[in-house]
Amino acid sequence: MVLGAGDLGRRVFHELAHGPGDRHVRLVGREEDPTLRAANLSRFSALQRGYHPTVDHATTDLNDIDRTAECIAAFDPDVLFLAASFQSWWVITTLPGESFQRLRAANYGPWLPMHLVPVHKAMQAVRRSGTSAVVVNAAYPDAVHPILTSVGLSPDVGIGNVANNVPGIRVAAADLLGVPVPEVDVRLVAHHYVSHRLSRAGDPGRAGMALTIGHGGQDLTDRVDTASLLKRLPLEYRRTGGMPGQAMTAASALSVLVPLADRRDALVHAPGPGGLVGGYPVAIEGGRIRTALPDSVSLEEAVAVNLSGQVHDGIDAIDADGTTHFEPSSMAVLTAELGYECRTMRLDEAEGRAAEIRERFEVYRGRAVASAS
Ligand SMILES: NC(=O)c1ccc[n+]([C@@H]2O[C@H](COP(=O)([O-])OP(=O)(O)OC[C@H]3O[C@@H](n4cnc5c(N)ncnc54)[C@H](OP(=O)(O)O)[C@@H]3O)[C@@H](O)[C@H]2O)c1
Repeated sequence: MVLGAGDLGRRVFHELAHGPGDRHVRLVGREEDPTLRAANLSRFSALQRGYHPTVDHATTDLNDIDRTAECIAAFDPDVLFLAASFQSWWVITTLPGESFQRLRAANYGPWLPMHLVPVHKAMQAVRRSGTSAVVVNAAYPDAVHPILTSVGLSPDVGIGNVANNVPGIRVAAADLLGVPVPEVDVRLVAHHYVSHRLSRAGDPGRAGMALTIGHGGQDLTDRVDTASLLKRLPLEYRRTGGMPGQAMTAASALSVLVPLADRRDALVHAPGPGGLVGGYPVAIEGGRIRTALPDSVSLEEAVAVNLSGQVHDGIDAIDADGTTHFEPSSMAVLTAELGYECRTMRLDEAEGRAAEIRERFEVYRGRAVASAS
């Protein structure tokens, strides 16, 4: 079941529909007509190419937790992919250029409520439904999962972010070592902030990260100049970004979802496994998920690396009860641009904060468009 029929949800659903005949996939959107159309597009495309899974759709509004719980229980999925958000990362890219550039400087942390709230609601529905599905979430898992862990509601694992740069790093390392790409084993520990920096700037900035490169069962990290390898990511290994670039995120999601759906083991990368902060190498084994760190990096070191990335993303700390402390310089950008100010947010305050951001953002958009025209 794919819950959230936006750009990413539809991309992932489309690929899942091109699968084996015993697969049953359901797209759950908010509105009947676009969800029906999207499901039928995937269904008919799959049929055209000779795939025969069962493909259908349903609707729910995440604000209606009982209805969402019924919707989940009725399908009883073995894997549930959450792809819903109140304001995806790309929405600010639709602003006139200067406004976008100014808002971009806030990084992702201050926008947290727009991702946290729909996932929190979805997870309450998951619990109410009684499902035993593995839950995989796309919406800012690096921060959303450690917060929801505090109330026992973290999805099992996230997708994307840390994973999105791994193929590029593998290809660059293979080229450097002169060995075939499939033989290169890359293990990356990195927060969302670092993932974004790597593809834009080719370095982690002042945040920490851990990277090992292996071949033939040997750790070759010491033989590779990893700093100059990473510098090549935005150069000869650059890839299409923006909305079309969500194809990479969809591939990262499928790298997690398909092994889970097919009950296959896999070694992948994912943020938020088991409610951890940031991103890790992850093993899927017998439908369970665990971190798969290289021998040279302990879990404590990996968490510390991710906590350093979290601060640069605009979140100073997340308390054990889920209270979030925002980093002042990131928040200052939203204060200057939107008039939005939030230093500390309890989990039960997040919904009000999301509504406030939505309202202030719409006013901001109106002003930005008016002054650009
Ligand atoms: N981890 C990664 O690497 C990565 C990369 C890209 C994106 N993402 C994240 O993935 C999430 C989805 O991204 P996207 O680009 O697909 O966003 P999107 O196109 O805006 O889709 C979000 C979907 O959420 C739905 N939604 C919002 N409120 C809802 C509600 N109350 N009930 C039911 N559905 C609701 C929207 O429904 P309507 O269409 O009806 O408004 C929309 O279809 C975002 O959090 C984004 O930041 C993660």
